[in-house]
Amino acid sequence: MDIQHLKNIAQRLMSGDKGLLAMDESLGTCNKRFEALGIPQTEEYRRKYRQLIVTTPHLEESISGAILFDETIYQKTDEGVSFLNLLEYKGIIPGIKVDEGSVPLAAFPDEKITEGLDGLRHRLEVYYSLGIRFAKWRAVIKIDKGIPTKACVRINAITLALYAALCQEADIVPIVEPEVLMDGDHTMEQCAQVTQDVLKEIFNALYEQRVYLEGMILKPNMVVPGLDCKVQNDVEEIAEATISCFLKVVPAAVGGIAFLSGGQSYQLASERLNMMHLRFGQLMPWPLTFSFSRAIQQPTLELWKGEDQNIGAAQKMLAHRASCNSDARRGEYSRAMETF
Ligand code: 13P
Repeated sequence: MDIQHLKNIAQRLMSGDKGLLAMDESLGTCNKRFEALGIPQTEEYRRKYRQLIVTTPHLEESISGAILFDETIYQKTDEGVSFLNLLEYKGIIPGIKVDEGSVPLAAFPDEKITEGLDGLRHRLEVYYSLGIRFAKWRAVIKIDKGIPTKACVRINAITLALYAALCQEADIVPIVEPEVLMDGDHTMEQCAQVTQDVLKEIFNALYEQRVYLEGMILKPNMVVPGLDCKVQNDVEEIAEATISCFLKVVPAAVGGIAFLSGGQSYQLASERLNMMHLRFGQLMPWPLTFSFSRAIQQPTLELWKGEDQNIGAAQKMLAHRASCNSDARRGEYSRAMETF
């Protein structure tokens, strides 16, 4: 384990005004999004879509790293250039989703545990040899009557910590992603409490597992009310609830925090990140950025629709959304920028 190397990669991922692009949708998720837009759900169409992303001009100006799915790292452009080489050439660090998705947690109805630890040490070695420098593992926590249970939070925290330690052993920076879902009618305050409890448990587990905090990145949800909650808090309240939650439980040594978007609209995701920087920029001990999938990609996918003649417009939208989030990291984003 090369501590300096891990720290350098984490710093490069969080550097300047840039953020991460999550393009690691599993086959199921990617196909579901394609299906909704009438795009054929084949390997070739997934390759075409990922080619659109990695060949987008100026993407590297706002994106420091891209999280890929296993299928994508072996794919090439029409001209035969490997996606991994292309990303490296552009200065975008390639990463990989290594979890194998979430499954029901035995004996705990409605709760999930993430799979993928078996054989992970070997997979990480292979990924490193291919040029992958960081990884991602997502744990899913749902808020509902009586859940999350302590047992669910604890087992997901331990699993995340073991994954993170295995990554660092392989000189790969782990992104630790606990997602408290937006589904449901819970309040922002309930989300704050659950997010805080989950993060506390995770950092305890990371500490016990001897994970090097400077060489990892946390990928959390923002503290928001459930999608069906009657009270939808304003941008300022959400920024304040999120940052005050993290200040309580995220150690200052952590390499950085990079948000998932979790189903927020792309404008709201940017506005909320922007407000955190505008109001609390001076208070934060960690670099704070984005690692969005839907909040960057969704409008792009809707423009592309699987048609070659739409590639140019879709790429412009992708670069635009990435750059809006980079602006948000400087506290310079406004909704008016969306009329592009
Ligand atoms: P969203 O930004 O769409 O939530 O996706 C982020 C991600 O990486 C999910 O694991």
